[in-house]
Amino acid sequence: MKIYVTENYQAMSRKAANIVAAQVILTPTSVLGLSTGSTPVGLYKQLITWYEKGDLDFSQVCTVNLDEYVGLAPDHDQSYHYFMQKHFFGHVNIAPENTYVPDGLVSDPNTACRRYNQIIRDLGGIDIQVLGIGHNGHIGFNEPGESFELETHVVNLSERTIDANARFFASRDEVPRQAVTMGIKSIMQARQILMVVSGGDKADTVKAAFTGPVTPQVPASILQMHSNVILVGDKAALSQL
Ligand code: GLP
Repeated sequence: MKIYVTENYQAMSRKAANIVAAQVILTPTSVLGLSTGSTPVGLYKQLITWYEKGDLDFSQVCTVNLDEYVGLAPDHDQSYHYFMQKHFFGHVNIAPENTYVPDGLVSDPNTACRRYNQIIRDLGGIDIQVLGIGHNGHIGFNEPGESFELETHVVNLSERTIDANARFFASRDEVPRQAVTMGIKSIMQARQILMVVSGGDKADTVKAAFTGPVTPQVPASILQMHSNVILVGDKAALSQL
């Protein structure tokens, strides 16, 4: 595992963007696994800046996102479809038909999950998976206690995650209670993992994930078993390592 400690959020974003940019430059047909949450926003911003300068070309890139809330339409301003459009897809030359985000609206989520697994396989797997981390150690929406063996599936969100995400909604009641997420197995099959983390409030979580026991109680701890992980964090987030 490679660890990069940066001074602050901006430097973290730039370092992580360098790693994604290198992937795209070296392999223009890359499959990028993408993530939402506030942490990767700076990374996307930096990639957009380099794209606007003419240094990056996403025309042959495919993307697969980690997760989506169940019940939110793509145009809902808190859906992850909307997030990706707002923070990344809408600003670069990625072909819309090459971007995949789980469908949170389908009547049969299990069929949708199977279809999503097949999409990832048909793309040849993920070259680099960008990950954030939740305060309870979740990755994607794989909450503590979830099996490491699952691919894309429907999850019930924990109370802690609902609390954490309530800030984006008008009220806590409006936060969806379920999500579709790539499972730990899907994430572990990515050829490279890039985790971004920022802020002292995540320091204990990062410590548990990377120095504690590998346990479903801390979903991110499974990353200790992946052979190609890059952790990029600011010094506050990595202070307990
Ligand atoms: C959500 C997302 C995760 C993300 C997490 C942390 O629950 N499903 O993919 O890593 O939030 O978000 P933030 O970066 O805003 O702390």
